[in-house]
Amino acid sequence: MTVTTENVPTSLSVEPTADLALPACDFTVFGATGDLALRKLLPGLYQRERDRNLHPDTRIIGVSRSPLDDEGYRELVSHALFEHVAPDHLEAGAVHRLVSRLHHLELDATTGEGWHRLHHLIKEGADGREEPRTTVFYLAVHSDLFGPICDRLEDLGVVSERSRVVLEKPIGSDLASSRVVNDAVGRVFAESQIFRIDHYLGKESVQNLLVTRFANTFLEPIWNSRWVDHVQITVAETLGVEKRGDYYDRSGALRDMVQNHLLQMLCLVAMEPPTYVGGDAHDSVRDEKLKVLRALRPLKGVDVDRDTVRGQYVSYGTELGHPSTTETYVALRAEVQNWRWAGVPFYLRTGKRMAAQTSTIEVVFKEPPHGMFPAAHGTSTPNRLTLRMQPDEGMQLHLTTKHPGPGGIRLHPASLDLSYATAFDERCPDAYERLLLDVMRGIPTLFMRRDEVEAAWGWVEPILARWDEVGIEPVRYHPGTDGPASARTLLGREGRSWIEPGR
Ligand code: BG6
Repeated sequence: MTVTTENVPTSLSVEPTADLALPACDFTVFGATGDLALRKLLPGLYQRERDRNLHPDTRIIGVSRSPLDDEGYRELVSHALFEHVAPDHLEAGAVHRLVSRLHHLELDATTGEGWHRLHHLIKEGADGREEPRTTVFYLAVHSDLFGPICDRLEDLGVVSERSRVVLEKPIGSDLASSRVVNDAVGRVFAESQIFRIDHYLGKESVQNLLVTRFANTFLEPIWNSRWVDHVQITVAETLGVEKRGDYYDRSGALRDMVQNHLLQMLCLVAMEPPTYVGGDAHDSVRDEKLKVLRALRPLKGVDVDRDTVRGQYVSYGTELGHPSTTETYVALRAEVQNWRWAGVPFYLRTGKRMAAQTSTIEVVFKEPPHGMFPAAHGTSTPNRLTLRMQPDEGMQLHLTTKHPGPGGIRLHPASLDLSYATAFDERCPDAYERLLLDVMRGIPTLFMRRDEVEAAWGWVEPILARWDEVGIEPVRYHPGTDGPASARTLLGREGRSWIEPGR
């Protein structure tokens, strides 16, 4: 069964898509030759260029330690676009327009070298303009550099009311260090100017969760502990740590994925309806997410031993070049302690080098209270709503139906499928495209507020502390599998099992 677009809301954006008028920006990217910039940010900006969303006077200033001039950087970015943009989206005119906006400055964020050139370039762009430019400083660098960079920007006099700073995760490596970073950035930028990015919030299907829950009425009455048995959130990747070993080994799956992406998704599933989404009500959604984070049952001490699983794929140390006890896999059982969700487990898991590349939220409903069909008619499977972030963004409602035939009732599992690729003519934009536009427009709804980041660290930190304290070593799992067997036990001991995509 396929749902047509007539049956679903047609506007999947939090803000109306018509509202795309962007100001002229100086969009400065620190870490401009890094993996994130070349793989995500510039291809994202390219797509917005292709749709002619960028203001004609917008400039993109790449800042890095590489000794590149503008031409060299333009060449590097052109190559990156050819590598990371689908061939049928590459249009010579749009590539040319984007590349002509690029500048590159060689600058060492840790020393004073090169900063005067940034000052000069930004001031040059401002000269003679009646309308001041919006300046965006995108910090795609280690969070230790956030404070020093912000201080320099302030000293240079390039921070104004029209400035915004974008912080890539992870912000710090625990609650204390995240506070240090947030304090340092907060000394230069007001909270309303700070955009803490969690790219999962830019994914279409994650935003669609908001719309599905709150622009329809049928889910709300059953979206609670009376009808929901449990929730599963999975982000599984087939890739390993690749070239990011240095960063990843200091981070691990709990810090890299759970503290941000998985908890943010949990928040969107569990939060109460915000008063308003859109317009100036930027804090409405964030207030509700914060309440969920604060309602999470703390996992401490022996609870951590019982309710978390730490894994590492067997070839991790070899890939890294040295032995390590960092986890590349986490599964855990969380609970939201409030009226709506009392007693409903939220099982989260994420891992690298898993069997399949998949990000899904499964909301599994309870069995019907009374089994009125004799066993000979087959068994009913619990209703389930699957929200697919990737691959094939969309959702599926799993039902039990009658198998057609004159011989009597036979129960049959079936599903209502909504695949964005077939239901909509439009391409699903990459998460960064949406978020980059929001930064330029100054809309912070889909960015994490400081209190959210700190509440998330506050919940995750005792887990890290316990692992450290008792020296819980990660359980090894084989690449290409579903992760450690103990993750199955986490659900199995409560009579449940993980839902594996396509199985
Ligand atoms: C990043 C993590 O935030 O998210 C990476 O640092 C991870 O380790 C990535 O691979 C996953 O994002 P996506 O969008 O590919 O699921």
